[in-house]
Amino acid sequence: MSKHVDSRRITVPEIRARKGREKIVCLTAYTAPMAAILDQHVDLLLVGDSLGMVVHGLPNTVGVTLDMMILHGQAVMRAASHALVVVDLPFGTYESGRELAFSSAARIIRETGCQAVKVEADTIAFLTERGIPVVGHVGLRPQAINVEGGFKAKGRNAAERARVLAEACETDQAGAFAIVVEGVAPDLADEVTQKVAVPTIGIGASPKCDGQILVTDDMIGLFDWTPKFVRRYGDLRNVVSRAVERYAADVRSGEFPGEAELYTLKTG
Ligand code: KIV
Repeated sequence: MSKHVDSRRITVPEIRARKGREKIVCLTAYTAPMAAILDQHVDLLLVGDSLGMVVHGLPNTVGVTLDMMILHGQAVMRAASHALVVVDLPFGTYESGRELAFSSAARIIRETGCQAVKVEADTIAFLTERGIPVVGHVGLRPQAINVEGGFKAKGRNAAERARVLAEACETDQAGAFAIVVEGVAPDLADEVTQKVAVPTIGIGASPKCDGQILVTDDMIGLFDWTPKFVRRYGDLRNVVSRAVERYAADVRSGEFPGEAELYTLKTG
C-alpha cells in the first residue's frame, strides 16, 4: 500500500473559513529540511523574520533584509507542498509608503511562490486590494523593539488594551485574512478573537484564539532558554549535543564505523 501524502496545498480562503471552527495549527519554518518535517502536520508555515535571531544569531528582527526573507522563503517553498506558506515583510521594507510595501510584498510572492505575506503595521488595505493576501500582526510587535525598549507584553492598562483592540479591528477591516495576536493578556486576546471576523492566531496570548503559532526551534527545545509561555515538546539541544559528543569520541578514538561500513558495502 502506498503512503498517503496530502499534496494539495491549503488555501487562503480555507484558513479564513476556519474562524470559530477547527483550530489552525501554525509553526515557523526557515529551512527546507525543517519545512519537509513540519509540512504534513501543520496548516500554516510562517517564514518569520524571527529567523534573524533563530538562524542568523542577530539580537532582534530589525537587521533582517528582504533578500534574507526571500532566500528562506524559497527554501521552505521547495520542501512544503501541503501547508499554506506565509512570509514576513521585514523591518524597513513597507513602512515609508504603500508603494514600497506593495513592491516588497510582490517581490516576495513572485520570487518565493508563497501564498501570503505578514505585516506588523498598516498598508494592509493597499496590499489586499492589489491581490496580495495578508496576515496582520497585533499586540507585541518585535520590529518595534527599539521604540518599546524591549519585548514587552501588551494590554496591561486600559489605554494599551484599547489600542490593541482598535488595531485588531482596523486590521480586520483592512482585509487581512488572519491576525497574529502576540504577547497580550489572555482576556484581551479572547476579546480580540470575539470582535474580529477573521481567525486569530495566538502566540503567548490565549488558547481561545482560533489557532496557535510557536517558533519551531523554541518548541523543539533547540535553545537553552525559551519564553515562559512556550511548552517544550522536545529536547533537541541535548539530542544534538549527545550525538556530536559520540561522533567526536569515535573520530578521536580512530573508530569511525560509518567509513568501515561504506568500505564493506563497496567491496561487497
Ligand atoms: O517572526 C515570527 O516568527 C513571528 C511569529 C513569532 C508570530 O512573527
